[in-house]
Amino acid sequence: MMAPNLAPVLPEESEWIAGQLVGMTPWRELGYQADTLRNYLLGSQTGFQALCLHVEGSPAGIITLRSPWLRGTLLELLAVLPEFQQQGLGKWLMQWLQANARDKNQRNLWTLVSAFNTPAIRFYQSQGFTTIGQLDDFIVNGQHELLLRYIIEPIISIDQGESHA
Ligand SMILES: CC(C)(COP(=O)(O)OP(=O)(O)OC[C@H]1O[C@@H](n2cnc3c(N)ncnc32)[C@H](O)[C@@H]1OP(=O)(O)O)[C@@H](O)C(=O)NCCC(=O)NCCS
Repeated sequence: MMAPNLAPVLPEESEWIAGQLVGMTPWRELGYQADTLRNYLLGSQTGFQALCLHVEGSPAGIITLRSPWLRGTLLELLAVLPEFQQQGLGKWLMQWLQANARDKNQRNLWTLVSAFNTPAIRFYQSQGFTTIGQLDDFIVNGQHELLLRYIIEPIISIDQGESHA
């Protein structure tokens, strides 16, 4: 597989991506509308970014970020399209997010995941996220969201280590 890359979501691809998301868990179960998601993806508020993941020129996933958020970055939305799942792309995105946050001297990655979305919870756990709390009836009544945190450890080089000795 060619190296994946990330680029801002273009207006012309936003409708197609939104259409894909409304057919996927958890947005399908939560009753999201394609128009709402499309407008959200094109948001231009300060600190908001919607990035499309491309593999060999094809859209393969999407992330949206809000930063700074609680001394870190809030991963608001993460999706790898079904035909691209289980190939390491989610892991690649997490490594990119960690590097991106570290570059900004941030100490945290945050995300919300629906309590019913067991595969995604397992994915986040495998990437080192821990559950911090539960938000009851947050997006729709009767459905809970879990707040997850990943702590970014600073990279300490051997040189720095020696200078503190
Ligand atoms: C969750 C999601 C982002 C994972 O992306 P992915 O590209 O399939 O994940 P990867 O291939 O990088 O997997 C990395 C690790 O996560 C774990 N993992 C991934 N999918 C999993 C699943 N369905 N069940 C359990 N563990 C899973 C595995 O431990 C895997 O490690 P491995 O390489 O040893 O197998 C993707 O399945 C997705 O977009 N799902 C639908 C949308 C969604 O739920 N988004 C997140 C919450 S909003």
